[in-house]
Amino acid sequence: MVGRPGRRAVEERLHGLRDELGADVCVLNGENVADGVGITPKLAERLLAAGADVITLGNHTWRRSEIAPYLREADRVIRPANLSARAPGKGLAFAAAADGTEVAVLNVLGSLFLDPACSMWEVVDELVEEARRRTPVVVVDVHAEATSEKVALATWLDGRATAVLGTHTHVQTSDARILPGGTAAITDVGMSGPHDSVIGVKAELAIHRMRTGMPVRFEVAEGGVRIEAVLVTCGPDGRATAIEPVRVPWP
Ligand SMILES: [Fe+2]
Repeated sequence: MVGRPGRRAVEERLHGLRDELGADVCVLNGENVADGVGITPKLAERLLAAGADVITLGNHTWRRSEIAPYLREADRVIRPANLSARAPGKGLAFAAAADGTEVAVLNVLGSLFLDPACSMWEVVDELVEEARRRTPVVVVDVHAEATSEKVALATWLDGRATAVLGTHTHVQTSDARILPGGTAAITDVGMSGPHDSVIGVKAELAIHRMRTGMPVRFEVAEGGVRIEAVLVTCGPDGRATAIEPVRVPWP
C-alpha cells in the first residue's frame, strides 16, 4: 500500500471488499504508507481499524523513528524477521480468522539491493516451524527485489506454508499459482495506490532523477488509484486450494 491515496482507498473499501470476497483474514504490507516511505504508529492503528489483521513491513521499516517503540509492543504489526535481532519488533504474528482459525504471518526480506542483517534463508525454516507448531495456516510475505529470490523461497517452502506472497516491487505479476505441495505463490501481489506513476512516485520526479542522476525529493502520485491483492483459499490442513489476483479500481 502506497501513500495517502492507497490508504484512503483501503480505509474506504477494505471492509466491503472483505465481505464481497469472503476474506476471513487480511494481511497488508504497510511500509510505504507514510508519504511513500515508512509507517507511523498512528497510521498502523488506522489500517488495523480499517480491516487489516496483520501489517507487514520491509526495507523502509525504520524510516519513521516513532515506529521503533511501537514495534516493541505491537503484536499485529511485524517487520522482516531478518533485520537485526537487536532491533525492536518481530517477524512473526498470529491472527484469528473470522471462523476462529489461527493464521500465522511471517515477514522476511530478500538480499538483492536491500540490506538485511542476515539472509532470510538463515531464519525462515525455524520461523515456519515455530508457526506450524501453533497452526497449519502460514502466510509468508517475502519482501524482495529479485523475482528469483521470491520464486526460490516459495519453492523451498512448498508444502510447509499456505502462501508465499511477494511484495516490494509494486507491480502485480501474472504467476499466481498453487505449487505441487499445496503452497499458493505469487512473485508480487502488486500495489494499492496510485498507478499513474512510477511504482507510486510522481512519474516526472522519478524520471528526472533517473535521467539526470540529481537528487530529487520524491512525492506520492495521485491518479489511477486501485487496490491490488491476492485472495488465497485454503483447507483446514493449511494447504492452499486457490489463489486469485484482485484488482479493484478506486473510487
Ligand atoms: Fe520495499
